[in-house]
Amino acid sequence: MRTEVAIIGAGPAGLLLSHLLAHDGIESVVVETRSRAYVESRIRAGILEHSTVELLTDVGLGDRLRREGDEHRGIYLQWPGERHHVDFVERVGRSVTVYGQTEVQKDLGRARDAAGQQIVYEVSDTAVHDIGSEHPFVAFRDAAGVEVRLDADVVVGCDGSFGPSRAAVPETAKRTWQRTYPYSWLGVLADVAPSTDELIYAWHPDGFAMHSMRSATVSRLYLQVPPDTDIADWSDERIWDQLAMRLGHGQDGWTLTPGPITEKSVLPMRSFVQRPMRHGRLFLAGDAAHIVPPTGAKGLNLAVADVALLAPALSALLRRRDAGPADAYSETALRRVWRCTHFSWWMTTMLHTGHDEFEQQLQLSQLRWVAASAAAATGLAENYAGLPIGF
Ligand code: FAD
Ligand code: DHB
Repeated sequence: MRTEVAIIGAGPAGLLLSHLLAHDGIESVVVETRSRAYVESRIRAGILEHSTVELLTDVGLGDRLRREGDEHRGIYLQWPGERHHVDFVERVGRSVTVYGQTEVQKDLGRARDAAGQQIVYEVSDTAVHDIGSEHPFVAFRDAAGVEVRLDADVVVGCDGSFGPSRAAVPETAKRTWQRTYPYSWLGVLADVAPSTDELIYAWHPDGFAMHSMRSATVSRLYLQVPPDTDIADWSDERIWDQLAMRLGHGQDGWTLTPGPITEKSVLPMRSFVQRPMRHGRLFLAGDAAHIVPPTGAKGLNLAVADVALLAPALSALLRRRDAGPADAYSETALRRVWRCTHFSWWMTTMLHTGHDEFEQQLQLSQLRWVAASAAAATGLAENYAGLPIGF
């Protein structure tokens, strides 16, 4: 097989990249280890930044998003006895939209179908070769086990945190940074109307809790748990009891309505950055190059921002033989990556509690500062609602 851009991974980064390239008349082939049904039902992120919504709308992916997405002005920050609304629209003139990653995947999948995009699902043994030459290729086995060689002008690794692309960059040519956090999230999806109009991020001495949502009838909730948590120890009743306590059920007349839990999982938390995001003819985008802990909802938005930068850079390289934007891609993308890495780290360390009572006092002081100071609230709002693409 031969194409202009070989894309590894049909997550949001890979599919959106193929969509943006097609807009510029550039051909691509996407290869993906999982089945399409799996990719479209994987429960992950839920919040789209303002610039993500604008970009998806500009490239024809906004119809259902505008109809079914739920625009939020801000978030609630709370700690025992207090709940404060941070209004992003008032602070920075930008909102966020609740729209599940599953829905983004489905919209992208349909749009790529309509354009006749070739996506090869259920591949195995994916490997990247000859990235230092002008003739890189991707080798894989298709669903029937047949070995395939996909030649391309450029290979883009959009294969997430466990894919092979980032490891294809030689050790001597890269630097990585990593931080693991001493807690995980227990995430649940429940068939019950959200008990709040906008997301609640709650600090609590027993651990962080968050109330998010997917629609008018589906709630998404998270609890801070120890990293070695066995999901079997968490009955539905225990989960709802902890959520009620940490989210302040009964406080100022607010109540949390429990309902049937349809999905439960434990998510580890880490920060990771690999530099550069390009080596020869291999480019990295999204989780393949960087991972953020989920507090602050940056992962999906950062993947979108990467490919929004990369698509025009590849267009310039392949259509006009102008290597400038492709050469600048890594440094430019990493500026936003580090901003989001810092913001996610800040939200995570401000809201998750440990045994250190000095740290707890510092956390509460930061929370009070954000709630009371327009300058601090504006900083949070600017980062959460998202900096403009290209920042
Ligand atoms: P991915 O979505 O991971 O896509 C990579 C794709 O590559 C996958 O489909 C994978 O199957 C495929 N792939 C992997 N290896 C190969 C291979 N060898 N060959 C071919 N294909 C391959 N972010 C938030 O903002 N909020 C959240 O609440 C949140 N929750 C999350 C929960 C979980 C369990 C995880 C893992 C992530 C979560 N994230 C969240 C992060 C967010 O989902 C990611 O940042 C986002 O999916 C990144 O998109 P991506 O396209 O870069 O990577
Ligand atoms: C969701 C996840 C997040 O990490 C976050 O900060 C906000 C919302 C969610 O899954 O809805």
